[in-house]
Amino acid sequence: MQAVSTRSLADRPTDLVTVAARESALAIEVSGLRKAYGQHVALHDLNLTVEPGEVFGFLGPNGAGKTTTIKILLGLVRPTSGQARVFGLPASDPGARRLVGYLPENFRLQDWLTGNELLELHADLANLTREERAWRIPEVLRLVGLGDRGHERLQSYSKGMLQRIGLAQAIVHNPRLLLLDEPTSALDPIGRREVRDLIRALSSRGTTVFLNSHLLSEVEMLCDRVAIIDRGRVVKSGRLDDLVRGAPELMITLDCVDADVLAVLGRFGRVLSHDLTSVRLGVTDASVASVIAEVLPRSGYRVYSLVPVQRSLEDVFMGLVEGSRL
Ligand SMILES: Nc1ncnc2c1ncn2[C@@H]1O[C@H](COP(=O)(O)OP(=O)(O)OP(=O)(O)O)[C@@H](O)[C@H]1O
Ligand SMILES: [Mg+2]
Repeated sequence: MQAVSTRSLADRPTDLVTVAARESALAIEVSGLRKAYGQHVALHDLNLTVEPGEVFGFLGPNGAGKTTTIKILLGLVRPTSGQARVFGLPASDPGARRLVGYLPENFRLQDWLTGNELLELHADLANLTREERAWRIPEVLRLVGLGDRGHERLQSYSKGMLQRIGLAQAIVHNPRLLLLDEPTSALDPIGRREVRDLIRALSSRGTTVFLNSHLLSEVEMLCDRVAIIDRGRVVKSGRLDDLVRGAPELMITLDCVDADVLAVLGRFGRVLSHDLTSVRLGVTDASVASVIAEVLPRSGYRVYSLVPVQRSLEDVFMGLVEGSRL
């Protein structure tokens, strides 16, 4: 994939309300959003905001409500109650839709078309002029790493190529907000890195990216802020740094872990997990490690190591949604 060029498409649409709205407002503002499918409540009172230019990660287990949220932001699903705004406009407003690019999670493309034809179709739907299409389509194909494959039919594309052309149709009109639902699920590690680089390049030019992903390491590499959703509720949100930094933890390896040692350690913090020879302890201050290192030998235990642990996003995620169902 190649660098994003500095050439830009003309502002579209030109109506003043839409232009004014998108200049000043939050990229996404969701408040009190609820969606019920019959008896089943997919979203309960969802609240979140995304600033313009952010790469925002939306994480949650299967069935948590991620795709439902994206569909509401696109105006494809009507919320039962609450509000969803995109650059200050109601998500159901066609003006909002024009500012958004979307890559669905399980998309099917018209596979009798060539890559070029598919992008022509989407660029046409987005009102790009013939002249704009003539330079933008080859540029977008280059951006997603399909530079010389645009003349081939989609039925001959590999899974990874289909994912790339899906991404190309999402950005062909240079949207202000890109909604990506699991954008790298079909890609190999090289393709994933290329998509990450592309997302960073788009973000550096001011595109806001809302990313649904199960790939926590990917979210960790890309996102400024995240929200973790479970059973239709945001259970945690914030800057990624703050979430993974969080409260300190200690990993203690010793000759034997029994009920007595767990009770001793319980005086210093919360036992997060343990096995026969190690304990992971959540503490409020990591300096308590030196006291633990003195107390355990006095109680007859041999300590092999006692080290602070850097939490990963996966640790945070698992801690919050453990026990969740499909
Ligand atoms: N059209 C629908 N009719 C009935 N229930 C639905 C519909 N769409 C979604 N649901 C339900 O709403 C809940 C949230 O679904 P959603 O697709 O938003 O989850 P998700 O977080 O995107 O999951 P996944 O990670 O598996 O893609 C699920 O329980 C799902 O079964
Ligand atoms: Mg989904």
